[in-house]
Amino acid sequence: MIHSLMISKPIQLLLLCTFALFSDVVFADPPYNICSTSISYAKDSSFENNLTNLLSSLSSNASISKFYNTSNGIGPDRVYGLYMCLDYITNESCKTCITTATEDIVKLCPLATEAVVWEEFCLLRYSNSNFIGSLNVTGNIGLDNKQNLSEPEKFESAVNQTISNLTKVASFGVSANMYATGEVPFEDETIYALVQCTRDLIASDCSRCLQSAIGDIPGCCYASIGGRVLSRSCYLRYEFYAFYHGATGPTNSTTGKKESKNNSSKLWMITGIIVVVGLVIVFVIFGLYLVGIKRKRQSKNGIDNHQISLGSLRVATNNFSDLNKLGQGGFGPVYKGKLRDGQEVAIKRLSTCSEQGSEEFINEVLLIMQLQHKNLVKLLGFCVDGEEKLLVYEFLPNGSLDVVLFDPKQRERLDWTKRLDIINGIARGILYLHEDSRLKIIHRDLKASNVLLDYDMNPKISDFGMARIFAGSEGEANTATIVGTYGYMAPEYAMEGLYSIKSDVFGFGVLLLEIITGKRNAGFYHSNKTPSLLSYAWHLWNEGKGLELIDPMSVDSCPGDEFLRYMHIGLLCVQEDAYDRPTMSSVVLMLKNESATLGQPERPPFSLGRFNANEPDCQDCSLNFLTLSDIVPQ
Ligand SMILES: *[C@@H]1O[C@H](CO)[C@@H](O)[C@H](O)[C@H]1NC(C)=O
Ligand SMILES: *[C@@H]1O[C@H](CO)[C@@H](O)[C@H](O)[C@H]1NC(C)=O
Ligand SMILES: *[C@@H]1O[C@H](CO)[C@@H](O)[C@H](O)[C@H]1NC(C)=O
Ligand SMILES: *[C@@H]1O[C@H](CO)[C@@H](O)[C@H](O)[C@H]1NC(C)=O
Ligand SMILES: *[C@@H]1O[C@H](CO)[C@@H](O)[C@H](O)[C@H]1NC(C)=O
Ligand SMILES: *[C@@H]1O[C@H](CO)[C@@H](O)[C@H](O)[C@H]1NC(C)=O
Ligand SMILES: *[C@@H]1O[C@H](CO)[C@@H](O)[C@H](O)[C@H]1NC(C)=O
Ligand SMILES: *[C@@H]1O[C@H](CO)[C@@H](O)[C@H](O)[C@H]1NC(C)=O
Ligand SMILES: *[C@@H]1O[C@H](CO)[C@@H](O)[C@H](O)[C@H]1NC(C)=O
Repeated sequence: MIHSLMISKPIQLLLLCTFALFSDVVFADPPYNICSTSISYAKDSSFENNLTNLLSSLSSNASISKFYNTSNGIGPDRVYGLYMCLDYITNESCKTCITTATEDIVKLCPLATEAVVWEEFCLLRYSNSNFIGSLNVTGNIGLDNKQNLSEPEKFESAVNQTISNLTKVASFGVSANMYATGEVPFEDETIYALVQCTRDLIASDCSRCLQSAIGDIPGCCYASIGGRVLSRSCYLRYEFYAFYHGATGPTNSTTGKKESKNNSSKLWMITGIIVVVGLVIVFVIFGLYLVGIKRKRQSKNGIDNHQISLGSLRVATNNFSDLNKLGQGGFGPVYKGKLRDGQEVAIKRLSTCSEQGSEEFINEVLLIMQLQHKNLVKLLGFCVDGEEKLLVYEFLPNGSLDVVLFDPKQRERLDWTKRLDIINGIARGILYLHEDSRLKIIHRDLKASNVLLDYDMNPKISDFGMARIFAGSEGEANTATIVGTYGYMAPEYAMEGLYSIKSDVFGFGVLLLEIITGKRNAGFYHSNKTPSLLSYAWHLWNEGKGLELIDPMSVDSCPGDEFLRYMHIGLLCVQEDAYDRPTMSSVVLMLKNESATLGQPERPPFSLGRFNANEPDCQDCSLNFLTLSDIVPQ
């Protein structure tokens, strides 16, 4: 962006940009500070000792985190502190910045019981009273860029809008960092803006802090092409150049600028032009370099973008209140939640049975997150915090298929066409898992309760990839413990613990037959000869009486031949021998192509294993989850 902007402009603009690039020089140099002058602490007191310890623990944390708050000491000698580094700087720069700040703060505010300093890229704050999490917007410092604009009104309104929009993102967005940047075209230029709050604030306070800072702009920065507002709990800045891309550490431009101030303007112009030409070249190279490293960094950024703090999930679910509980799945309870930006989500709080370390967990989650298909429930984010592991999914308002399908009243919503749409959607979702995604995933627990329905009753498969999330990538193809759901387990899996993609095809076949008949396979009993829906369907089929199974509720909308064709495909999927069952890609073809000739289905398994009729419950979960779904690299 920088290079294209600069190259395309006439030399006057280049000079203007030079000013912008050197804007740090035009400002009084950092640090800026506020010190309480009312009370002071005594030299060599406990407070001083605790403050010293606090500052050193803050600066040691700065190498691993962009924000940290802590306190030190007890009683009246207790000191509270926090720091915040601008999110775009590196960990190393953050460490350097905070170390400088801890030195500056004691020099600038000697014996103050309360102080804040702002360095170029960070702020550090301490107090003898607990300010953490509370907002104080007094004493904001505004810094302008001392350039004149021709149409300040228009510019100010654009800046106001840009920063107001960013404020919403930083305060109520999904990201846990309370940080947002944005670029907005303005006439021939681009306004680059950044906002950030200290992460101890709640969303609404972050928003209030930034709004108050926006209110300070006209006072400090009217008609200036750039500005910053330093507040105790937030920061905003805007410029005509991308100051937040990769800029790290205190720049050496300060030195250069101070010298130039004393030179004659003519000499300055010449130097300026030379510098600009140099900078253009540097920026072009740097821009290309950034494009290069951006790709490499993407997976790391993935973590930041998708990690959601436990705090915000607690807020989202009323502290995991029972009222928010949607149900209890195999991996732990699921809650409905509302994120800061108003988005409704389903939050799965995994029971802490996973043997997996956080890093492995995150890696697996990021992999699973890449699986995107309209018939898969979207994994939006996750949280790892100590023992807690949570997965955040899109929320689907119509609940799960079993609730609709097996409820005599609700089933009326599913006419024949809708049922076909659901079957086709599920088939495409499974095909994607088996063959189209970068990972080959065997779901292993396909069932009506793992199919969720969106607003338009489109199906989305849930709980895929859970074995990987729970156990890492080395899931075994043959496990001692068998956990599936009674009624859906393929015989080779139920009896011998063997599974393959064909076991999922079996689960799909059961689901298909359930959907077209409106009857549950588990618990279906017709006679000793036909103890399951599968065997009953197969017998009727062979006697030419398949239509007896038509769901009376869909009979009006259901053409008999179509019903029989779907039944036929279902029976092909539930054949006893895994080898005889079609792959999902042939299933999808059969569903699509009405004129395809279908083979004669062999017998389905006579009865299904009767173990583990219920969902596993987490008291004895241990490694059982390993068996629920599995993935092997493709
Ligand atoms: C606070 O200072 C007192 C007195 O120097 C010291 O005894 C105490 O250990 C300090 N507290 C902490 C947590 O460092
Ligand atoms: C961060 O600070 C805490 C004290 O508040 C300390 O226990 C911890 O070791 C620090 N972390 C690092 C990496 O220094
Ligand atoms: C750098 O900081 C991020 C958080 O911003 C942290 O996750 C990461 O572990 C840190 N890297 C190192 C090498 O400490
Ligand atoms: C940071 O502040 C929060 C809110 O006051 C508090 O719960 C948490 O313990 C603090 N963190 C540390 C390390 O003191
Ligand atoms: C904000 O901080 C200033 C300076 O420490 C203090 O005088 C003022 O009372 C504080 N205001 C609020 C609302 O806490
Ligand atoms: C900027 O504008 C102010 C008044 O708005 C004027 O006094 C000043 O001379 C201008 N400075 C430059 C460099 O044009
Ligand atoms: C701010 O957001 C509103 C609504 O989303 C949008 O219409 C407007 O264009 C945005 N303005 C800027 C400057 O980003
Ligand atoms: C920014 O815009 C809002 C309305 O969008 C307005 O209420 C506020 O006064 C404006 N602030 C400034 C500093 O212009
Ligand atoms: C910046 O200046 C410092 C000394 O002030 C020097 O040590 C350092 O090498 C300079 N960095 C660059 C990139 O020129």
